[in-house]
Amino acid sequence: AIERTFSIIKPDATRRNLTGAVNAVIEKAGLRIVAQKRIAMTRAEAEAFYGVHRERPFFGDLVAFMTSGPVVVQVLEGENAVAAYREVMGATNPANAAEGTLRKLFAESIEANSVHGSDSAENAKIEIAQFFSGNEIVG
Ligand code: CMP
Repeated sequence: AIERTFSIIKPDATRRNLTGAVNAVIEKAGLRIVAQKRIAMTRAEAEAFYGVHRERPFFGDLVAFMTSGPVVVQVLEGENAVAAYREVMGATNPANAAEGTLRKLFAESIEANSVHGSDSAENAKIEIAQFFSGNEIVG
């Protein structure tokens, strides 16, 4: 079924001017960018977004990283978009990411891993709602 997922192009990628290169891979994979904006994520937004990781040892560093530069938040639409985008991204740790995936192509480390994508359709809805109002998404 056609579904939507939430994506973030992270500060390591925007810093290296890779927004267009990331988007080219997304679009080539058949996913449609139906909403997109470049923002400076606030500390509160990053803490809320990554709330499930609050107790993890990397949480503080992760929040610092996500607020260290611009990010591009996106809504992607397509057939099985959640799973399809996870395949396009590759493994969280670029050392384990398959050839041709965004993290293999662009990620610097497990933290500075260039992109985020929702892990379920349910979380996609929650994440999209954190950053976009309905009229900003044009399918
Ligand atoms: P993301 O898919 O955005 O979800 C959580 C993020 O935490 C992950 O990508 C990485 O950027 C970051 N992270 C940093 N260290 C780790 C780790 N050891 N395991 C998983 N994620 C990590």
